[in-house]
This record gives sequence, C-alpha cells and structure tokens, in this order.
Amino acid sequence: MSATSGTTTIRLSDYSLVGKDTELAIEKGLAEATWYQSPVTKEKMRELLQRRDWPAIRDTILWFALIIGFGWVGYKLWMAGSWWAVVPFVIYGMLYASTSDSRWHESSHGTAFKTDWLNDTLYEIASFMVMRESTVWRWSHTRHHSDTIIVGRDPEIAVPRPPDLTALVMSFFALKVIPKYFKQVFIHCTGRLTPDEKTFIPESEYNKVYWRARIYMLIYLSVIGLSIYFRSILPLMFIGLPTLYGTWLMPIYGYTQHAGLAENVLDHRLNCRTVHMNFIHRYLYWNMNYHVEHHMFPLVPYHNLPRLHEIVKPDMPTPYTSIWNAWCEIVPAVLRQIKDPGYCVKRKLPTPTLPTDAPPTSHVFKAKGQPRNGWIEVCVSTFLKTEDVIRFDHENKTYAIYRTAEGTLYATDGICTHGNTHLADGLVKGKLIECPKHNGRFDITDGSPQRQPVCVALKTYRAREHDGKIFLDLTSAGGCGAKQPATTYKFRVVSNENVATFIKELVLEPELGSPMPPYQPGDYLQLDIPAYGEISFQEIAVKAPFKEVWQAQHVFGKQHADAAQLFARDESCHRQATALQRPHLHAAARAGLPRGRGLGVCASVETRRQSHRHRAVREFPHQTR
Ligand code: FES
Repeated sequence: MSATSGTTTIRLSDYSLVGKDTELAIEKGLAEATWYQSPVTKEKMRELLQRRDWPAIRDTILWFALIIGFGWVGYKLWMAGSWWAVVPFVIYGMLYASTSDSRWHESSHGTAFKTDWLNDTLYEIASFMVMRESTVWRWSHTRHHSDTIIVGRDPEIAVPRPPDLTALVMSFFALKVIPKYFKQVFIHCTGRLTPDEKTFIPESEYNKVYWRARIYMLIYLSVIGLSIYFRSILPLMFIGLPTLYGTWLMPIYGYTQHAGLAENVLDHRLNCRTVHMNFIHRYLYWNMNYHVEHHMFPLVPYHNLPRLHEIVKPDMPTPYTSIWNAWCEIVPAVLRQIKDPGYCVKRKLPTPTLPTDAPPTSHVFKAKGQPRNGWIEVCVSTFLKTEDVIRFDHENKTYAIYRTAEGTLYATDGICTHGNTHLADGLVKGKLIECPKHNGRFDITDGSPQRQPVCVALKTYRAREHDGKIFLDLTSAGGCGAKQPATTYKFRVVSNENVATFIKELVLEPELGSPMPPYQPGDYLQLDIPAYGEISFQEIAVKAPFKEVWQAQHVFGKQHADAAQLFARDESCHRQATALQRPHLHAAARAGLPRGRGLGVCASVETRRQSHRHRAVREFPHQTR
C-alpha cells in the first residue's frame, strides 16, 4: 500500500494482523522479541511484585459506591422529571464507561488483587462495562504486551498512521467502537471469529468466546426489552448508553499511552509515556499513567508503580508533567502524521546505565563442577530464599529452582513455554510460578499450566539440599512437560540472510518427503541452538549493506575467544520465535534470530501448540553458511 504526498511516495503500513507488515515484523525479529529492561535489583523487584488485596478492595469498593451513588441520584432526579439528572448521569457514565478501562486492564494482568477470584470477577464485570469481550481481549492484550506497537502484530494500536482524525474525534463518544463491538458480538454469537482474531486466539478458547458473547447479547436484549416495556430509555441509561455519553475520559487518558510515539522499536521508553497526574486522576486511572514502567514490568501491581517509577527514573526519558503537557505533544504529532505517516516523536533517552545486552534482573548461577550420578551443585543454599526462584544455566539449558514458603525445593525448565522469558524473573505464589511477561502461571510441582496464556507444560526436575548447598538432578526430567508426545521432522536450512545489521533470518524447508507440520494461530517455533564451540566471525556470511557496518565496527576481526563469549557458548541458546502465522501462504518456516543467536547453526525446532493436543519436535542437520 502506498500514498503520494507531493512528489514523494509514502509506503503505508498494513495494521492488520495477517498482512504484509505481519510478515515483515516476523522477518525483522520484531515479533515476540526481547525488550529492553531498566536495571532493578532482584531484592527490590521482589518487594515490588508482592501482591496485596487491600488496596484494590478499598479502591474497588469506593469505585462501586461512587457508581451506585451517582446512578441512584440520577435515577431519583430523572423520576422527578428534573434536568439536573444530567449531572449525576455524566459522572455515572464517566465512571462506568471510562474508568472501567483501567480496572479491566489491571485485573486482566491478575495483579490488582492477591486473590485470583477477585481479579477474575472484576475482570468479567469491567470487561462488560467497557464493552470488551473478556476472552477476546485477554488474548489481544497478551499480544499487545509481547509486541507493543509493532505494526502487523499489535492488535491494540489506537492511532494507526496516517491517523484518521474523524475516527479520533468520534472515539470520545465511542461512535466507531459501538457498531464494531456489536458486530463482533453478533459474529461470536453465531459461533464464528474474524480472521484477525484467529491469529491470536487459540482454538481451545473459541467456545469461551462464543458463550460469553451470547451472555452479553442476552443482557443487552433484556435491557432493551425493559426500555420497550417501560417506554423509557432509563434502563439503557444504566447499561448500554453510558458507553456513548461516558467514554470521553478514556481517550483523554488512553491516548497519552502511545499516540504519536515510535512504532517497531524494542524499547518501551520509546513507544510509551509516563505522565505525572494528580491523585484523583491516578485513582480514576489506577496508576496507568506510569505506562513505561507498566510495560517494562507488567507483573508489578498498580499500587506499586509509583515506587517502581522512583527506582527506574534515572534510566527513563523525562516524564510528562501533566495530561495537558502530554497532549501538547500528541496533538501536533498526530496532525503532522496525517501528512507524514513516517513521523513520530523521538523520546530522548538518558545515557545508558547498562549495556544494551544487559543481563536480566535475576542473578544467573552456573555449575562449578561436573554432575555426579546426574546431580550437579547449583549454589549455596542461602542464595535461594523462601518464596523465591533462581536461574541456573548448565550447558545449553536453563533451569528455574524454587523454594516455597514451607521451604520445599522444586525445579523446572527455566524458560516459559509461551515465550522467550526467564521464569526466574517471575513471582512465586504458593506452588505457582508466574511468568513476568504475560502473567501466565505454572504449577512448580508438576510443571502443568495454570493460567493463560500458557498452555504447554514445563518439565520438572528433582532438587535437594545437602551440606548447605543446593543440587539439581539433571537426569530426572519429568512432570507434565515430559509427558507430552513429540514427533520428529526433518528440516534443512535453505537460506541464512541478514534482515538487519545484527539479525539473520533462517528459512527452513521440510526435507524431501517430510511434511510441513500443521500450524494454527497461537503456535510458535522453539529453537534449541546448541553450544557452538569456538566460532570466528569471519566464517559468517554477511552481505551488503550490513557487511559495511560489520567492517566499520571491526566485528569480523573478533577473535575466537571473543566470539565464543558473544555467542554465549556456555549459555542456553534456547529461543522461541513466533513464525509462520499463515502457513498456507508459506512454503517454509521463517524465524528472525537477533544477534548472538543462531547466526550459524540450528539443531532442533519444536512447535508448540496453544493446547495440550499436539507437540512436535523437528530436527534439522548442521547448517553452514
Ligand atoms: S512469555 Fe507469555 S506467559 Fe510467559
């Protein structure tokens, strides 16, 4: 798609999730990529991650009290025939339709309350109030956090370029949202999904989508029925119409999150805003004004975001001083993007406090000796506190070792089966580990998935304490993750080209006679790249124009030892990449592998489906350039 501006032809982005930009995002390694994180010590992060019920119970009781209170006053004045009813209804609508957005958001992450059923209850209620189907949006928001403002991947880009000014103005009254929403509810009621939805909702969730849509429809029809029966729009003033007359505050807050900022960057400091707000706004918006912090560490509950902000502030661009200050930037930027869709606000980053490949927040333990009878020493016991987790890397694998509140040790695979995320950066809750990326959960006793979006189990291992040290049995892989059946496929690498300076794209093809494994939306590739041994950068084929950059930076001159280090010889090279979203259009699997990974050799690929029904492991032979 392109447009002509004066004499310049501008390429227009395709924001659908099944278009050209989807393929581009995958090929450039922007899908399910690793994002920048500001440094926060594990101890501080542990404090910030602590869940509490009380702040959200207090805030939610007050919220419902305000909604019911203003609704009651509005009802009384309406029944008395007074035009003063407008005032309480304006406030009721704002609370109902606008502030339900942030309640919906926080409970979707499961971080509002400590108690899960409270999160789930608030999520279902707030989803209905804000007119978002709960199951659809849970998956959509998972993708938004994986691929924030990545064109072709993020289903929640509020201001696509070039911006549609009419649509933006209409969004203050949900004029475009309402017809779209009811159209989708109707489609789902009839047992169907749109093509875009099929790219991020796994098949195992389809029935939930259909049944929730039918319940929503029943409620709306009942309210309409009441209005007809009483010959009054009053019932609709409480349910349905608030979206029309009360949504105005949501875009005022919401557009400050990302509008006008960069697309296709892997640093939330460049595509999110943190805006200082007074305590009333922060209450109504549940601290979502700390949006950079939230995207960087989505596991931190809303009530701890101001503390997190204080910690990471030195590593952040200057926050906006007020909503007004943010809008003074948004309006001119959006107006300029109408004519110049390539324009975006460039946030000034402070001098890096960490190198770009900085380690994650957790400390990494490595083996000091060799395994004996399968058992290997991990670390001194005191390093693993109660209700805590540590990361242990050995050869090309990463493990997570846990200690529960009772002091029992457990161990599992260290990487989340949903994405390329270390579980050791997550939160231990009883006998569950919560992934730091999308809040998916596993039972650490058997590795089973316990909360979406994770659907594939982990392997578990035996761990024990002896002589004040922790040991792990590497040979004891078991649990639900070991029970899933595997199929082996033969693949060969047909090309290995740079798609960016430090990103190679591997194109994989089934070997003669081998079938292409069946894919469905939600599947992803998992690449297990073994240790390389020593490798020279000169052995790596890099073509122009990237070759010139490598030469200018003397990358080819790296000695073997450096190369081995940079290639993470001793680290796990376990990687996951979403790929092949539209298998019927591809003859080959594609995966973008960022620097330091997969430039030379790939040994095995796993496909994991977002249900328990299928798992396949494929192997392909040693690949040379
Ligand atoms: S990476 Fe998505 S839940 Fe772990």
